Amino acid sequence: MTATTPIDAVRLPDPYPYYARLVSERPFAHDEELGAWVAADAAAVRAVPGSDALRARPPAEPVPRGIVGTPAGEVFADLVRMTDGTVQVRLKTVVADALARADTAYAARLTARFTREALEAGGAGPWEELMFGVPARVVAALTGLTDGADREAARAIADLVQCIPASAPPAQQRAAATPFVHDGRAVAGGQQILVLLAAANRDPAVNPDPHALSPGRVNPMVFTFGASSHRCPGEPLASALAAAIVTELRTAGLSTTDTPTYRLLANARIPNL
Ligand code: HEM
Repeated sequence: MTATTPIDAVRLPDPYPYYARLVSERPFAHDEELGAWVAADAAAVRAVPGSDALRARPPAEPVPRGIVGTPAGEVFADLVRMTDGTVQVRLKTVVADALARADTAYAARLTARFTREALEAGGAGPWEELMFGVPARVVAALTGLTDGADREAARAIADLVQCIPASAPPAQQRAAATPFVHDGRAVAGGQQILVLLAAANRDPAVNPDPHALSPGRVNPMVFTFGASSHRCPGEPLASALAAAIVTELRTAGLSTTDTPTYRLLANARIPNL
């Protein structure tokens, strides 16, 4: 194994050889340098979010310490994401029901329009707006915030996101509330597990020939949107938005640089564009 940690791997030009080694050699193991367990293969990535012994956040710290008592902390405390228990189940049902009724065709049309606006605006480059502003505006518009309120909501969300990373652990990190055993290995209460969704996507046990790009795959196992009881309810909407933006970029003949660098983030692979 190289000196790379799963956190550093997020910024590698090609992290997949590293992930493949984790999947085959250390599918569920404690990383000394990271001070956390790492779940890399499909079996572990399925087991962790579905376990009652684990929590999305440290049980004693439901809101990141750095933002307790701030407006960002108040919003964080109401999120469906990064919570567990009966409140999460109840609120998630409401959010999932609403998302299931979202008109994805309308969302795609709106996304295409906002994308064209961003491309026409020119400026330093449309990428920041396409990666963050447009999706936030579309979701805001679907909730009824239109006529400028969509832009205002997108700005507020960007501000909130700025407040969180300083003290929040990665979203895909889980903390053991009580002992958790997987593959014969015991995680003690208080320890953390980092769930590597991108590594599990390419586990040959669930996706044969996983490194080949084959759009016609039958029943691919995709962990990008999480797993088990914490699986993302926004997948159809997010996919419709992403497809609409890519379609507009292709129509405009725009592409990004071939080898971008990636941001210093623990839980998302976001390019510097
Ligand atoms: C490409 C875009 C997206 C990706 C890759 C993504 C990915 C994920 C992942 C991996 C999780 C699981 C987090 C965890 O286990 O702690 C999650 C949870 C969640 N996502 Fe998404 N998501 C996307 C877009 C969206 C959108 C557009 C919405 C709603 C408008 C949404 C709503 C949620 C909610 C409410 C949860 C919490 C589920 C729970 O903890 O039970 N997501 N998402």
